[in-house]
Amino acid sequence: MISKTSIDQVYETARLEEVIGDFVQLKKAGSNFKGLSPFSDERTPSFMVSPVKQIWKDFSTGKGGNVVAFLMEHEHFTYPEAIKYLAKKYNIEIEETEQTNEQKEAQNKRESLYLVSEYANTYFQNILHNTDKGKAIGLSYFKERGFTEQTIKKFDLGYALDDWSAFTDQAIKQGYQLEFLEETGLTIVKENKQFDRFKGRVMFPIQSMSGRVLGFGGRILTNDKKAAKYLNSPESEIYHKSKVLYGIYHAKQSIAKEDNCYLVEGYTDVIQFYQTGIKNVVSSSGTALTSDQIRLINRLTKNITVLFDGDAAGMRASLRGIDLILEQGMNVKVCTFPEGEDPDSFAKSNSLTELTEYLEANAKDFIQFKASVLYESSKNDPIKKAETIRDIVTSISKIPDRIKTEVYIQECARIMDISEEVLFSTLAQLNKKESDQAVAKSQPTQKAFNVIKHEQPVRKVDVQYELERKIIEILLLYGDRKEEFEDSILKEKENGELGLEKVVQEARVFEKIYLDLQEDEMEFLNPQFKAIYFKIIETLNQDPQFKIQNLINTIDPVLAQEITSILMEDERYTLADWKRNNIFPKEKTDTVSQLVSETILTLRCFLIDQKVAYFQQQTLQNKTEVNKEILEEVKDYSGLKMLLSRKLNRAL
Ligand code: CTP
Ligand code: MN
Repeated sequence: MISKTSIDQVYETARLEEVIGDFVQLKKAGSNFKGLSPFSDERTPSFMVSPVKQIWKDFSTGKGGNVVAFLMEHEHFTYPEAIKYLAKKYNIEIEETEQTNEQKEAQNKRESLYLVSEYANTYFQNILHNTDKGKAIGLSYFKERGFTEQTIKKFDLGYALDDWSAFTDQAIKQGYQLEFLEETGLTIVKENKQFDRFKGRVMFPIQSMSGRVLGFGGRILTNDKKAAKYLNSPESEIYHKSKVLYGIYHAKQSIAKEDNCYLVEGYTDVIQFYQTGIKNVVSSSGTALTSDQIRLINRLTKNITVLFDGDAAGMRASLRGIDLILEQGMNVKVCTFPEGEDPDSFAKSNSLTELTEYLEANAKDFIQFKASVLYESSKNDPIKKAETIRDIVTSISKIPDRIKTEVYIQECARIMDISEEVLFSTLAQLNKKESDQAVAKSQPTQKAFNVIKHEQPVRKVDVQYELERKIIEILLLYGDRKEEFEDSILKEKENGELGLEKVVQEARVFEKIYLDLQEDEMEFLNPQFKAIYFKIIETLNQDPQFKIQNLINTIDPVLAQEITSILMEDERYTLADWKRNNIFPKEKTDTVSQLVSETILTLRCFLIDQKVAYFQQQTLQNKTEVNKEILEEVKDYSGLKMLLSRKLNRAL
C-alpha cells in the first residue's frame, strides 16, 4: 500500500495540464486548455482541461475527473499504477506501508509485466554498453549503421547475448517471477526448461506514448536466411501490437509542434530520421496500419506523410491501408524514395537540409498520387481502368469532408482523363451501397420481432434536478466565501406592530444555503447530489481552507465524476469559437449573494407550486366535501408565492 503522505504529495505536485499534455495536444482556450478527445474519434475538440480547478472533462463521452482518473481512463492504469506513474514523473519517492503476504500476492499483474519489461530493458542496455560481447557485437553493429552514442542511448537500444538463457537466469536471480517473464514473452518455457526468446540480437524496446516499455523488437546480426530478420515480443496484457507505434514517445512533442507526422516502416527508419533531425516520425513496425494507431497520431496532428521504401511492390499494397487514415478525416501525403533506398538509408547519406528539401519536393497529396500511379499502369487497358476508377473513388468516398470530396473528384477527373460525371456517379453508387449495408446492420431484428414502438418520452426539464445541481455548483465554486445577504425579517416596529424589515447580514455562502434549506425542510431528491451536499457542508464546516480539488481526490469516484460534470459545465461554452462566430454566452453579472438568493427563492417557488398542485389534486378527488383547510393552505401558499416572486422581480 502506498502511504497517505505519498499520495497527498503526488496530488500536490502533479499538474493536470502537464500530465494530460503528454497524451493530448492541448491548446489554450481562455483560462482552460482544449483538445481532441482521446476517447473518441472526433474532429472538433470537446476535451477540456481546467488548470485552475485541476479537473478535465470530455464532452464527447461524458468522462471526466482529476489527474488520476485521467490516467486510469486513458492508460488503463489501476489506482496505484496511476499514483506511481505520477510519482515517477515528478520524482517523488513513494513510501509504501507494510504489505501482508496476501497483498503482495494480489499485487497487480500488469504492474509486474511492466516491471519485468523495464528490467529487461535495463538488462539489454547494460549488456550492450558494459560487456565485451555487447560492445564487440551489438555496439559495433549500431555504430556501423551510423547511430551515434547519443542516439543509441536515446532509444534505449540494447543487445541480447547469444546464449540459451542468460537473460532469464539473471532475471530470476534478481527475483523476477517466471510467470511474468513468460507472459511478456521474454522467456519461453518448454518441458520445464526455460529459454530466452531473444538470442544474439540487437534490441529495440517499444515504448508507449508515455514511455513505458511494452515489448521489444530484436534484429538478427547474421545473414541466416532461415531465421527471421526481426523477432518481436508476442501480444501480452501490456503489449498490443495494433495499438502502438514505434517511436511515438520520442516523437509526440515534435508531431504536435510541426503539425505533421512522418510514418515509416521500420525501427531503423525512425531512429535514422530522428538522428538526422526530423523527430516527428513513427513506425508501424512492418505491420499494416490500424485505426488505433492512426488514432494515436490523430490526437497530435491532422497531417500525416507516409514514406515508402523505393520498391513499387510494397507500395502498391500499402496504398490500400491509407484509406483508413482518410476515414479519420486526416490529410495524407505520400513520399517515395529512389529505387533501392528506404528512409533509413536516405537519411543516413543526406544532411538535414537535403532530407528536408527532398521531402518537401516529393511529398504529394495522396489522392493525386494514387490517381496518377494507378492511371499510369492502366491507361492502355480499359478493363483495368474501370477497376482503377472504382479504387480511387473508394478512397475519395472515405473522406468525411464534403467539400474536399468534390475538389478531389474534379482533380482526379483531370489526372485520369475522364469526365467528372462518371466519377460522381461511381461515388454515389459506392455511398448508396455503404448506407444500405449500414441500415441492414443496424436493424437486424426488425423483421424477427413485431415490437410495438414506444413513443420516446419528451425529456422535460427536471426543475428540481436543475436546482439541486445549481446549489451544488454554487457550493463548489463559492461555498467558502463570505458574502452580504439581504433578508427581510419580522420585527416589532416602534408603534408595536409587526412588520417586515430589511437587514443585511454577513454569512458564509455554505452556511446561508444550509440554514435556508433547513428552514424549508428541503431535501435533495437526487441521491448523488444529496451525498455531495452533505460532504461539502461537513468539509467546509471543519476546514475553512477547503479546496474543491481535495474533495474530488478523496470522494467516491462516482461522486467525483458528478462534481467534475458540474464544474466543467460552464467551460463547454469556451469550446466553440465564440469570438469568431460572434456569439457570446450570457455574461455573468450576478454577484454571488444574488445568485445564492435567487437560486433559493426559485427553489422555494418551485416547492410551493408543487404543494399547490398537490392540494388541488386532493380537492379534485374529494369533490363532494369542499375541504376548507386545504383551501386555506392553498391561499397561504399562493400569497407566499406572490411575495417570493416579487422578490425575484418576476410579475405573476
Ligand atoms: N519486420 C518484422 N519482422 C521481419 C521483418 C520486418 O517485424 N521479419 C518489421 C520491423 O519492424 C522492421 C520493419 O518491419 O523495422 C521494416 O522491415 P525491413 O524494411 O525489412 O527492415 P528495416 O527496418 O529496413 O531493417 P534493416 O534496415 O535493419 O534491415
Ligand atoms: Mn532498412
